[in-house]
Amino acid sequence: MTDRPYVIDEMISAKSIAARVEELAREIQAHFKGTDKLIVVGLLRGSFVFISDVVRELDLPVEVDFLEASSYGDGMESSREVRILKDLRGEISGRDVLVVEDIVDTGFTLSHVMNLLKSRGPARIETIALLDKPSRREVDIRATWTGFEIPDEFVVGYGIDYAQRNRNLPYIGKVRFT
Ligand code: PRP
Repeated sequence: MTDRPYVIDEMISAKSIAARVEELAREIQAHFKGTDKLIVVGLLRGSFVFISDVVRELDLPVEVDFLEASSYGDGMESSREVRILKDLRGEISGRDVLVVEDIVDTGFTLSHVMNLLKSRGPARIETIALLDKPSRREVDIRATWTGFEIPDEFVVGYGIDYAQRNRNLPYIGKVRFT
């Protein structure tokens, strides 16, 4: 919870997100065409909305699993220390893996998770991030597929929170403190 008053300005509409998800799903489908061993891994909690839209656009046999990594706590700044709070239920050795992330900021989370998952010997592993803030990057990493590159704004909605709130907004909004 936060006591600091703020408003949310819409930045990316639900309609634009849906159109982009459809576009990216087509590319992912072409990339993994013919696979019967794809596991789509959502990074909790922020990706829960995005992964549900992505998997429903994929006309491929998929399994879904989740991993929870956290670097932010309830604050706005990365602690640079990534903790695995919940590991995958299934094995990914020899499997095709698509890691779904809501936003890549400093890159610490995705980099840590990718090192961990690669060490488990997947056949192929790719990443999709809805949002990318390249100007904030501290670790040299980029998702295979990115929905939108955005400037260094504090964003919420479509799974992304501010102090655990606003994840349920259907669009991406910008937090403006008043
Ligand atoms: C947020 C977001 C990404 C990560 C990006 O997760 O969902 O996973 O930070 O930041 P980075 O590139 O600087 O590492 P958070 O730790 O806030 O957890 P949440 O997904 O549960 O909100």
